[in-house]
Formats: sequence, C-alpha cells, structure tokens
Amino acid sequence: MPVITEIEDLRRMHKRRTPKMFYDYAESGSWTEQTFRENSSDFDMIRLRQRIAVDMAGRSTKSQMIGEDVAMPVALAPVGLTGMQCADGEIKAARAAEKFGVPFALSTMSICSIEDVADHTTRPFWFQVYTLKDDEFMQRLFDRARAANCSAIVITVDLQIMGQRHKDLKNGLSAPPKFTIASMANLATKIPWGLEMLRTKRRFFGNIVGHAKGVSDPSSLASWTAEAFDPSLDWERIKQFRKMWGGKVILKGILDAEDARKAVEVGADAIVVSNHGGRQLDGALSSIRILPEVMDAVGDKVEVHLDSGIRSGQDVLKALALGAKGTYIGRAFVNGLGAMGEAGVTKALEIIHKELDVTMALCGERDVTNLGKHNLLVPKEFYGDWA
Ligand code: GLV
Repeated sequence: MPVITEIEDLRRMHKRRTPKMFYDYAESGSWTEQTFRENSSDFDMIRLRQRIAVDMAGRSTKSQMIGEDVAMPVALAPVGLTGMQCADGEIKAARAAEKFGVPFALSTMSICSIEDVADHTTRPFWFQVYTLKDDEFMQRLFDRARAANCSAIVITVDLQIMGQRHKDLKNGLSAPPKFTIASMANLATKIPWGLEMLRTKRRFFGNIVGHAKGVSDPSSLASWTAEAFDPSLDWERIKQFRKMWGGKVILKGILDAEDARKAVEVGADAIVVSNHGGRQLDGALSSIRILPEVMDAVGDKVEVHLDSGIRSGQDVLKALALGAKGTYIGRAFVNGLGAMGEAGVTKALEIIHKELDVTMALCGERDVTNLGKHNLLVPKEFYGDWA
C-alpha cells in the first residue's frame, strides 16, 4: 500500500486503476483547457499570512451550508459518470460524505439512480439537475428527489450546450464503454475495475435510462445533452423550476456579478461561483478570481459557494477567506474514488480536512467561520484590470 499524503497521490492511483476514457472524462477541460488550468494556478497567486503566539488549541472546522451542519464547509460536487470511475461509485461517495459529515450532491448524469443512493444512505443528500426542455421529465426528477428526501436541488445554469472536451470525442466516451479495439486494449489492463463492474448491475445512466423520452443513444452523454438540453433557457424558466421543486435551490455556474444579482432576484437560497471545472467556456476567468466581485455584488444577500479548482485544504481556506460560505470538490473526491472506492473518498476528505485544519492553525485561526481577508496576502495582479 503506498503512503498517501496528498490528493495528487490519489490522482495517480486513479489514473492507473480506471479505464482511460473515464479518467480522461474527469481530468479534462474544454478546448485549450486554459480555464481548467487557471482554476488551480490562480489559487497559487494568493499567499497566506502566518501568525504566531496565538492560542491554536480547540480548533473547529464545523460550519453550515444552506442551514445544514457540516463537519467542514466542503461538499462533494455533482459529477457525471461517477459510477464509472468505480462500481457503484455514487453510492460509495455518498456514504463516505455522510460518514464524514459533509454534503453530497448527486448528478443527474450519475450511474446510480436517486433511489439507489437514497436506499444506501440515511441522511438527505442534494440532487443536481440540468435545465432540460422536457417539463414532464423535469417534474419527474423533482418528484423522485422529493420522494428520496433530498434537502436541496442544485440547478446547473452553465450547461445549456456542452463545451467540447477533445479527449471525450477521441476516446468515444459512453457508459458502459462501447467495445472498440482501443477501448478493449485499455480495458484489458484494468482487471480489478472490470471485475467490480461485472458484479454490479449499475452500468447505465440510472436517472435517465427508462425515464427520459426520445433519447436516441442512452449510453452517450453527448447525444443526450444535444437532444434534451434547452438552448432557450432564461431567468423565467429558472423561476419555473424553482416553483416546480418547491424547496431549497442552489444555482450552480454563476461567473458574473450581474448574473449573481439576477440569481438573488429569482430567489436562490445559495449560488455557486463555478465555471464547471473549466469544462464549459474555455477562456473564462477562474472561479477564485471572480469570487471577490460576486461577494461585493451579492455577498450580503445570498449564501455564496465556490467550486472549480479546489485540490487542497489551503484552497478551501483561501475561498472561505475571500467570503465563500462553502466550497465543493469534484475531481479531488473522484480521484479518491477511482483510486480506492469509498475508502479513497474518505481519504480525500481526510487529506483536505487536515490541510485546512493545520493551515488555519498556522494562520492563527481556531474557527473556520472566522476566516477572512485578514488571513490572506493577495497581490494586485490577482484582481487584474479586466476591461
Ligand atoms: C457534465 O456536467 C459534464 O461536465 O460533463
């Protein structure tokens, strides 16, 4: 067993264990991947202010996200095809999140269905939806989420049209994988993954297959998004979804102060500053760079969360210090899952928790809810002078 000390260790193990098409799906951004890269490298521009001779005993990372108690303000982001990184992946990730005491958000494009996850967990989870054309299907998703006792809906508002990720096209991404010479050659080197997959019946998009009408190729994410997603989305439609659900709503994919104000007007309970992990608009600014502008615009009116680029507890601390009330990890937990299943997700959470806790202490803070700009050293170039 290798000594695992950082998320990067889990990423390397994930790459070795999981078929290339699924590993690549998780680890890519769109087009040139500039935004994908800057989501991480922009965190590195921010430095931390060390303090000494302050009482560091009795620290706490406990906080709340949308009124729910969390062991640390780090939720597992909705990630499509998680159940292809490892058999029954969404169930395993949800259980790890529940045991750790952080929120789990299930993607509509999951392999395990809403009901599967509800049957294997005891605490309410969040359910993510896209903005689809088919009202009946949307209403059914909301009803299923309600029946599964989901405590919030996360509406993804930055994916009416899918950004192109070159590797997915080149790899012929599908769930389950289609057998081509290249995919079979690669699968032959992933025996433990394959044996586990053979033992589960969950190998299709569990929320879609058998539920959505008119999907010509249910194994292809690309064809489903092209056919089912609503290119004419507007704020009125978002309001409709909020009514159809009738509970707490988190709007994910806000990257502009004006859009953040609109999100407040339609009554979002929280917004997630996110560029979809650099998978949508390549060339957009990183989430961490936009966060201060969004905080200035709406920080006193709505709970603001941050997603995209978080790979460490130091990143979490920086986002919280710039005002976010909560953060999300996507790839970081998927790396853990792909590496070692449920234990790997737990490991990813433990790594991030320890990094957050120790960093907080060395910054002279005992309580995660007291973090602020006073903990950071931010160079002028970070804010930029974008016209
Ligand atoms: C789906 O949301 C994706 O980014 O692939």
